[in-house]
Amino acid sequence: MTTVFVLNGPNLNLLGTRNPEVYGTTTLADVEKLCGEVAGGLGLTVDFRQSNHEGQLVDWLHEAGAEVAAGRSIGAVVNAGAYTHTSVALHDAIEGASVPVIEVHISNVHRREEFRHHSYLSPVARGIVVGFGVHGYALAIQGLHRLVQE
Ligand code: DQA
Repeated sequence: MTTVFVLNGPNLNLLGTRNPEVYGTTTLADVEKLCGEVAGGLGLTVDFRQSNHEGQLVDWLHEAGAEVAAGRSIGAVVNAGAYTHTSVALHDAIEGASVPVIEVHISNVHRREEFRHHSYLSPVARGIVVGFGVHGYALAIQGLHRLVQE
């Protein structure tokens, strides 16, 4: 069965209790369930992961690229958390591994501090979903599915 990777970066394991006024009270386990339901409706399975470590996310992007090349995955939905704003390594991994990526942010980063306005991922992402809360993950899976069909 074809997979969609959903990769989460630092501090997203704290979802539900972390800054609930910004990120809401939904937990990452709830998000995983939501992603599974949406992907299932599209005939996809979800490979849902979270890491606080940049290099781990790089390795997973390489793995996702290899799975896409092998025809077993449509790509990855990526919420890289704060690494979005700092990581040339994640930019290079997405580009180098040729992974179709939809970048997701739960909050509208453009309404927040200026350091959140720049993303190293956006120039190498196929699409971006920002500010829809955790529902953005569902939109991103649907959007990635649509993009790769075109
Ligand atoms: C975030 C936004 C980032 O700026 C922040 O560092 C996060 C979460 C979001 O989903 O809104 O960890 O990616």
